Amino acid sequence: MILLTGGAGYIALHTAAVLIETGHDVVLFDNFCNSKPLAVERLAAIVGRPVPCVQGDVRSRTDLDGLFDQYSIDAVIHFAGLKAVGESAAEPLRYYDNNVGGSLVLLEAMQQAEVRRIVFSSSACVYGEPDASPIPESAALRPANVYGRTKLMVEEILRDLQLAAPGWSVALLRYFNPVGAHPSGLIGEDPNGVPNNLMPFVTQVAVGRRPQLQVFGGDYPTPDGSGVRDYIHVMDLADGHRAALDWALRDPREVLTANLGTGQGYSVLDLVRSFEQASGRAIPYRIVARRAGDVAAYWGDPLLARQRLGWTARRTLEDMCRDSWNWQSRNPQGFA
Ligand code: NAD
Ligand code: UFG
Repeated sequence: MILLTGGAGYIALHTAAVLIETGHDVVLFDNFCNSKPLAVERLAAIVGRPVPCVQGDVRSRTDLDGLFDQYSIDAVIHFAGLKAVGESAAEPLRYYDNNVGGSLVLLEAMQQAEVRRIVFSSSACVYGEPDASPIPESAALRPANVYGRTKLMVEEILRDLQLAAPGWSVALLRYFNPVGAHPSGLIGEDPNGVPNNLMPFVTQVAVGRRPQLQVFGGDYPTPDGSGVRDYIHVMDLADGHRAALDWALRDPREVLTANLGTGQGYSVLDLVRSFEQASGRAIPYRIVARRAGDVAAYWGDPLLARQRLGWTARRTLEDMCRDSWNWQSRNPQGFA
């Protein structure tokens, strides 16, 4: 049985769908601070059977001990965390408590339960402003915000733990920019309030919830002046977790750090154009000032994940836009 903390969230739901379809049993664990129980019902509709989901908090040892007593867990994929970069600067203690404190409590509970295989949701944020792209895993780590520092701290805790207790197998997955949705249109990204990220903002404009997109910066040193990122389809990302989990289940007893990206950068305006084509909807936009803290351009080097995990992202920007639109157009108000 595989435990997915933060299991009702965007990336975990898609990962659960892939894991169940490839023969794994999963249990989800979530405090629903940024997700809804309805999402778990949708997952059950996709896989054609109920998916066990326990409500609880990774910061609660009582919640976790109960979970490990109830289920025989072989490995954990640790998605639970807070992820809004701007909010992390305003509320650092909440972010350190939830992301770092929560991970510590989880690791203690795992140690007690003798579960020593973990796949951790890290982020390309740990690199901060890179010297060059594509970014290899060996690049300097200098996160530019609190959120990124919480991810780097948990990576370091896991490296220290594996050194002290070599029985552990640890995969640190650094995601680039996840977008897209399950092809069924039953699950997808459903942020609370005004979306911080580009794709959900674009889909909400397309569906009429917001009048226009603001493009943050038109004067970057990029081909069209807008910011460039490595967008990755969430189903490819889910498959990357499947590959990392299969690696961990072989008990390699080491730490593997891998980028999960496509290795290709697209600009904000590339994405807008591709989305317009995929959806047949015009996306009105206005170019405004740069957003504080944004980097002009970066994308990941995906070679290591290919060599070590046998995994490569396959889906195109067109696929990402089509599936994001399929989800949003079928669910204009998300899971509400
Ligand atoms: P999400 O908010 O949709 O999912 C996170 C889930 O964790 C939510 O369901 C939330 O309710 C739950 N959660 C948060 N704190 C919890 C706690 N203390 N106890 C139990 N559950 C808790 O976010 P997501 O996009 O699916 O991200 C999943 C993970 O991937 C996060 O750790 C995030 O930092 C990381 N990540 C996301 C991105 C991205 O752009 N989406 C990029 C890099 C890394
Ligand atoms: N952008 C806009 N308008 C918007 C939102 C975003 O122009 O309304 C632009 C940004 O300036 C940037 C690009 O779109 O150039 C992507 O921005 P996102 O906010 O979607 O994503 P970020 O690259 O800023 O960060 C995301 C996640 C982080 C994660 C990181 C990893 O928010 O959690 O990807 O690469 F760590």
